Amino acid sequence: MKPKTKSPLGQISTLRQRPRRLRRTATIRDLVRETDLTPDRLVWPVFVTSGRNVREPISSMPGVNRLSPDQLIKDLKLAQDLGVQSVALFPHIDDALKDPLARESKNENGLLPTTVQEIKSACPGMCVVTDVAMDPYSSDGHDGIVEDGEILNDETLAVLAEMAVVQAQAGADFVAPSDMMDGRVAHIRHALDEHGFKSVGIISYAAKYASTFYGPFRDALDSAPKAGDKKTYQMDPRNVKEALREVMIDLDEGADVVMVKPALAYLDVIAKVKEISTVPVAAYNVSGEYAMIKLLAKNGYADEDKAMFEILTAIRRAGADLIFTYHALEAAKLF
Ligand code: PBG
Repeated sequence: MKPKTKSPLGQISTLRQRPRRLRRTATIRDLVRETDLTPDRLVWPVFVTSGRNVREPISSMPGVNRLSPDQLIKDLKLAQDLGVQSVALFPHIDDALKDPLARESKNENGLLPTTVQEIKSACPGMCVVTDVAMDPYSSDGHDGIVEDGEILNDETLAVLAEMAVVQAQAGADFVAPSDMMDGRVAHIRHALDEHGFKSVGIISYAAKYASTFYGPFRDALDSAPKAGDKKTYQMDPRNVKEALREVMIDLDEGADVVMVKPALAYLDVIAKVKEISTVPVAAYNVSGEYAMIKLLAKNGYADEDKAMFEILTAIRRAGADLIFTYHALEAAKLF
């Protein structure tokens, strides 16, 4: 660079600090960046539905489809080519199969377990995460057994543990309880070990908030609560110490990964959890956060790729080691 001879600053021609030197070229910016984002840190959440050749668009989540297992496998091969190695499965269960005790969740030949088996034989390298929660199977649309409007805790634990064992049997690498019942990590760990699944891990939705940003997801699975809300089990958005308490309990109970959910409105929670956690921290970039970007871009208010990348980078910068995001494939194409 040619030095400029005259400084408009006059007397104080040498500033002591010039942070802009480290931003001068793209190469320098890459050289000194603090945050890396790579596709192998992304977990792709997908919605599975029964049948063949089914790709059902979800209107509240532009670009996301409910996929039958054959179509899912096609997309997972694509994901692997792009470097996305992990998938989180959410089943869309037929209304006729739903009941108050979520019995279908224990069906070894049900949609979820058979899909896990198919993925494991078609894409052996894929890390498969399964959701442990009653809501996709429950006629009440809650994550626990409902009695007189109350969500029962201890009775629900047995259902969750059985569900987790069926998923492990099918070949899941991680089971991921997203229900927020007290004591479920210990209960599930015990059941898995008892059945010989010592190597199957638990990704615990440790700090899961009662968020309005889950709306599109519930639309995707037809899983909205039939009555009431989830505030007696999911966390109050006004709290952060409580998140740390939840994380400490889950660590004590044997969680292998702890999650904060949602991600974007809870970056402070991710940062604080990262400080105390002795295991990797996951963050879930949820359906409403995904839809926000799509709507922003559709209206021409922002470049979709840039907006998505900025948000995923922020979640990573806050401290997430792995990120669950519906943007996984689109994001991976940009790396
Ligand atoms: C329920 C579950 C939810 C999500 C994941 N698991 C919704 C809820 O708690 O009502 C939301 C994910 C998203 O919005 O992307 N077990």
